[in-house]
Amino acid sequence: MIKRTHTCGELTKKNLKEEISLNGWISKSRDLGGLIFIDLRDRYGVTQIVFNEKLNKKEFEIAKKLGLEDVIGVNGQVISRPSEAINSKMVTGEIDVNVNKLCVYNESDNPPFDINDRFSASEEHRLRYRYLELRTKELQSNILIRDKALLATRKYFSKNNFIEIETPILMKSTPEGARDFLVPSRIHSGKFYALPQSPQTYKQLLMVSGFDKYFQIVKCFRDEDFRSDRQPEFTQIDIEMSFVDQDDITDMGTHFIQTLWKEILDVDLPDKFTILTYKEAMNTYGSDKPDLRFDMQLMNLKKYVINSDFDTFKNIINSDGLVKAVKVNNADGYSRKTIDELTKWLKDQYSVKGLAFFKCIDGEKLEGGISKFFNENIQSRMINDLGIKSGDIVFVIGDKPKIVLSALGALRLKIAHRENLVDENKWSPLWVVDFPLFDWNEDHKRWDSLHHPFTSPNFDDIKKLDDNPGDVRSLGYDIVMNGYEIGGGSIRIHNKDLQSKIFNLLNINDKEANEKFGFLMNAFKYGAPPHGGMAFGFDRLIMLLIGSKKIRDVIAFPKTTSAMSLMDDSPSKVDKKQLSELSLLLKEKNEKNV
Ligand code: AMO
Repeated sequence: MIKRTHTCGELTKKNLKEEISLNGWISKSRDLGGLIFIDLRDRYGVTQIVFNEKLNKKEFEIAKKLGLEDVIGVNGQVISRPSEAINSKMVTGEIDVNVNKLCVYNESDNPPFDINDRFSASEEHRLRYRYLELRTKELQSNILIRDKALLATRKYFSKNNFIEIETPILMKSTPEGARDFLVPSRIHSGKFYALPQSPQTYKQLLMVSGFDKYFQIVKCFRDEDFRSDRQPEFTQIDIEMSFVDQDDITDMGTHFIQTLWKEILDVDLPDKFTILTYKEAMNTYGSDKPDLRFDMQLMNLKKYVINSDFDTFKNIINSDGLVKAVKVNNADGYSRKTIDELTKWLKDQYSVKGLAFFKCIDGEKLEGGISKFFNENIQSRMINDLGIKSGDIVFVIGDKPKIVLSALGALRLKIAHRENLVDENKWSPLWVVDFPLFDWNEDHKRWDSLHHPFTSPNFDDIKKLDDNPGDVRSLGYDIVMNGYEIGGGSIRIHNKDLQSKIFNLLNINDKEANEKFGFLMNAFKYGAPPHGGMAFGFDRLIMLLIGSKKIRDVIAFPKTTSAMSLMDDSPSKVDKKQLSELSLLLKEKNEKNV
């Protein structure tokens, strides 16, 4: 074995004439007759090595047979490149290594795709050979940034007196709102562990134990529908603090994000992040995770609609619905066909009944779509009040508030990307606060927790719990960056009676509460400090830091959108013996119960 004296990313003119050794993978090879040039790659970079037939016939003959991705070691001398061959973009671009000894460690089969051109293969194919995709420049860089961020995270929290405590992976189910991944117990037949959706209950117990500042970089598992920013197993930076209020936690979170952005990107984020209440965020942007890199606020058309001749919208307003709109400036490209496509998309995805619109051609009156329902006087008030200019188009949706806001929030985003309104170099962090404590579940006709059942109501709203639970604000908060929810948390309930009351409102009776969370409620009997915390989605943070929109780009071995690992083919069947040890019997899959 030839042990390396240097990496492939460090030799420069300073090393000229030195005898050195390198190890690495063959990334490129060019045979120019009596000379073979090879790019040797390791995770530090690439160095060009040269085999010269005249100087070393034996090694030259072996080198002729080398293929891409073979792993080799070489001894040689650092020589300078002829001036026309210098590559000033590479650290090693001024030198070559003249090889005098070669050792072939492992010959590679023909690689299934070109490691120098990641996108030469489909994502499915690359995921099957993920260990090779991880050799690509992009993924090597992403994983290194992830490592740097892990270190910066530990440094930050440790410096602020937090201690890292590991919590169980096999545990009782936690109520984070997704489906659990279950693990059957062999010893206790018929019983199951759940993989943690988060260490929520444990970190609260740790506060009862007196570890007043906890953090953990921890895997969480959620069996939920997938999106490009979700994985069934993902990593959180989980924190919890005692004797704090909401501002203490959001300040700590703000400074953490600032530190991370500074350390990884050398970007200075503002000292204070924007704060929006949930109501403000929803009413202004139609989203509880608004992308503030562009403006395009939703406009309320109520006062114009009630004086119009448009009965459909008037009826909506009269039955507590909303009629809101977004305005697109200089909207040349909105043909009938485009509007129809947008309408179909909104109908399919957001259950709207239609997408109304009007245009302004001359800056003085409205035209097309629903403009005919508004008289001249209302039209000119709208043009004035809403700043409508010639060439603008206004899209309008009327429906139940939830539908209008989510549809217009999505339309706002879609249009912004279509019109290139998003400044990709901008960072727009914000906190969203004052979430409602409960969310009405129309299907089951009951209240659900918007965060989780341990979230404290806002102390000013406790009196509304009995009569008007829908109006109770929580002490929950989310942190959002460029339209992504990157973290969330809350001040917790630390009082057994208030916790019981919340369980009751959530339709969790005493027996069920005791079965599910008896251990936590019991702990609260023995001196529970006031506490609160939050968790950051670590993968999402890295995704933003590397400028990707795909969470798979930052996880070494991710799952596909259908929760499969194509490389090791999981999930996979297990043999009957394993099932029988776990006292499990699989139901036959037939047409009816597929
Ligand atoms: P929450 O459920 O909001 O809070 O999760 C915290 C953050 O984790 C990230 N996240 C995900 N990332 C990738 N894939 C997923 N499937 C996924 N789900 C969530 C998001 C989110 O903001 N226990 C509470 C925190 C607390 O109250 O302290 C919790 O887990 O960025």
